[in-house]
Amino acid sequence: MTPVLAWSTPASWATEALRDPLALLVDHAHCELGAASTAQTLIARHSTETALVDALAALAAEELRHFRRVHRLLERLGGTLQPVQSNPYAVGLVKSIDRTAPEALFDRMLVSALIERRSLERFELLAAAAAPEQPEIAELFLELGPSEAGHARLFVELAVELHPDGDVAGRLEHWTELEARLIRSLPFAARIHSGPFVQRAAEPAESKRGPAFA
Ligand SMILES: [Fe+2]
Ligand SMILES: [Fe+2]
Repeated sequence: MTPVLAWSTPASWATEALRDPLALLVDHAHCELGAASTAQTLIARHSTETALVDALAALAAEELRHFRRVHRLLERLGGTLQPVQSNPYAVGLVKSIDRTAPEALFDRMLVSALIERRSLERFELLAAAAAPEQPEIAELFLELGPSEAGHARLFVELAVELHPDGDVAGRLEHWTELEARLIRSLPFAARIHSGPFVQRAAEPAESKRGPAFA
């Protein structure tokens, strides 16, 4: 089962994000590195959950391979990995989980599934927008997309396995709505999980002359 997003990103987001491909790749590299690191943190925190440990160890190794793939392209295009920036999308979602609740791990798996699903959506938009003029970037996102789809499914499967009585449909509805509200509220940037691109309205002629005092 793959989560269905409650809001679809307009194609204009990808066109604008690709105007700064190096910034986008820096952010993407950190997303992959962060995904590998989060998987390892989950293993350390839930070390008695054998199914989770095994699946997330494999996922961490795969995300690190993705990081290297993105980093190689970043270098090839003349960029350098920059220090990590806070990720208000992932942080905002994870902070919304009640860690004291008995279903906290169930929710954590569903939130991870959604992050993977949103990444897949963004990869597909970027691959389509980059195809004509930035073929190497298009190839990268086309190549990584199927893995993220697999990760989204894996996290839902883990949620079900860890909490067989959990209300998957009900909780997914809750999280998909929250996720959609959050990502739509974020500012646009050349980052994988930024908000929608909003065309600024032209400033009124008077404002260019400064404030008028009557
Ligand atoms: Fe990845
Ligand atoms: Fe992933």
